[in-house]
Amino acid sequence: METQQKRIILFSGKGGVGKTTVAAATGLKSSELGKKTIVLSLDPAHSLADSFDIDEETRLSAKGLPIKINDNLYIQELDIQEELERWWGEVARFLELLFNTTGLSDLVSQELAILPGMEEVTGLLYINHYYRKSDFEVIILDLPPTGETLRFISMPTILKWYMKKIFRVERTIMKIARPIAGRMTDVPLPDESYYKSLETFYENLKGVDEILIDPDITSIRLVTNPEKMVLRESIRAYTYFNLFGINVDAVIVNKIFPKEVIQSCPSLKGWLESQYKYLEEIEAYFKPKPIFKVPHAQRELVGIEGLKWVAEKVYPNTDPTKVFHKEQPYQFEQTEEGYLLKVKLPYAEKKYLDLYKVGEEIVIRLGNVKTHIMLPKKLKNKEPVSARWEEGYLKILLA
Ligand SMILES: Nc1ncnc2c1ncn2[C@@H]1O[C@H](COP(=O)(O)OP(=O)(O)O)[C@@H](O)[C@H]1O
Ligand SMILES: [Mg+2]
Repeated sequence: METQQKRIILFSGKGGVGKTTVAAATGLKSSELGKKTIVLSLDPAHSLADSFDIDEETRLSAKGLPIKINDNLYIQELDIQEELERWWGEVARFLELLFNTTGLSDLVSQELAILPGMEEVTGLLYINHYYRKSDFEVIILDLPPTGETLRFISMPTILKWYMKKIFRVERTIMKIARPIAGRMTDVPLPDESYYKSLETFYENLKGVDEILIDPDITSIRLVTNPEKMVLRESIRAYTYFNLFGINVDAVIVNKIFPKEVIQSCPSLKGWLESQYKYLEEIEAYFKPKPIFKVPHAQRELVGIEGLKWVAEKVYPNTDPTKVFHKEQPYQFEQTEEGYLLKVKLPYAEKKYLDLYKVGEEIVIRLGNVKTHIMLPKKLKNKEPVSARWEEGYLKILLA
């Protein structure tokens, strides 16, 4: 018999929309269906523990390690400082030493100008760790607000580039440093533990990008509110997730005011009615993705009872760990005009788009985010010759 697929569910959205609440509610319902579940948060504000109404003492004594909620459910609020030390310790120490050494600092700081965001890397390390080395069947990550989320998903690409650089820098340093190391005792040479730690770090991240782009494993859910600014950000995020090839399997519209409230509040009528206008827009934008609507509770939502209420609104009579919708973010297609690479990028603006080929990969850059799409064998000698937008897709002609 086939074993049940492990699932990774990411929640993304603007600050305050309800990501932590929905992530926690999803975890709770998943655990109640008997699935061993962990909810992770990178938020330094500790709102995950708060949403489960965990007291301060319990939270502090957990020191960033998992806290048990019930037999199947754990939550973990990652402490970035602790985690850096744990996963990246020797490497960070060596780089610091290097930065502080005269003569080499310019070269190094130039090369290492794009040091990846450690929070994002930590999130990736944990996903990889729990996915491969734990018995958690469901791994839920409450992501930081959208801007950082984009850094998070672009991290595997950045890291690959970065690791190449770091190795190059290292070789340069060794070339300069070795012959004179005897004389210049203040030039630090990485010792054995540095290499070990770099190796472990690499090893721990290996394959995480493959997990993230597998739609049977990873889903990202957009949490949004029926408001103009929030909606805009969700659309932008959606475009970027497509660019990276991470499957958005549902959109959750949270904090919708019930129509009865609108009737009884003449002074808020205009504002509240606009919610329903944005709700229609959301449906039009994200079709055919499922849209889960959650009313505003009109009370404070804390503790298990509050989360149960949310879970029943988001996933009435449904398993929250299901893949609700699957869509290939990009595909290759043979047409009369030639081979097309089709990328679902519904709301991107042309002026921010850049397209080129490096090696056997097509690079698509949108603003300051880029992705690499590997060409299949039979197309690897083709070049992108033109591109156009059609039916929500960017269609790139390869010839
Ligand atoms: N459907 C809802 N009804 C009422 N209050 C809500 C609802 N969803 C979330 N909240 C409240 O809104 C606030 C922000 O939610 P939170 O989940 O912390 O947002 P985020 O993680 O996106 O910043 C919290 O106080 C939470 O209890
Ligand atoms: Mg939060």
